Amino acid sequence: MKKLLVLISMAAAIYALSCTNDAEASKPLNPNGDSELALLMRSMFDDGAKVKEAIQNGRVPKILVEFEKIHTAKATMPGKADTPEFKTFAAAYVQAVNALKEANGEDVETHYTGMVNACMNCHNAVCPGPTRRIKKLYL
Ligand code: HEC
Repeated sequence: MKKLLVLISMAAAIYALSCTNDAEASKPLNPNGDSELALLMRSMFDDGAKVKEAIQNGRVPKILVEFEKIHTAKATMPGKADTPEFKTFAAAYVQAVNALKEANGEDVETHYTGMVNACMNCHNAVCPGPTRRIKKLYL
């Protein structure tokens, strides 16, 4: 029973870290290594920063991150990504990225903003910690 309590409090601590910590992405944030989902999120953030830069320099952005993995990547907190809420926000995000990939001309900026909104919508609902960083992706 004691062991179980220790486990639960460890999981809670890791969870709190992953969803409230606003530290820069380069260092591992928890002692057990970072979850697949956390690593994917960092790549999504880095990719977003490159897309923003490309748009600001008038270049055609390329999305290289494997964003569809958001549906399958394992989260730090077991079950975190299994809720209907998460799945709905994840589907909206994937749709937003696909719209951005197909956009041309002036639509690129609109759909890029739509993608960042999709990041923010999910984060405001399920994981508010990183929102301050994500806001930096806005044009
Ligand atoms: C469907 C919900 C959802 C969407 C959409 C989403 N995120 Fe996340 N994000 C999460 C969850 C949940 C975590 C916590 C992952 C974990 O700890 O396993 C997270 C974690 C993060 C982290 C912290 C990673 C770390 O270092 O631990 C960053 C940064 C992040 N997301 C950025 C983004 C960006 C940028 C986008 C859009 C391009 C985005 N997120 C879209 C749910 C989402």
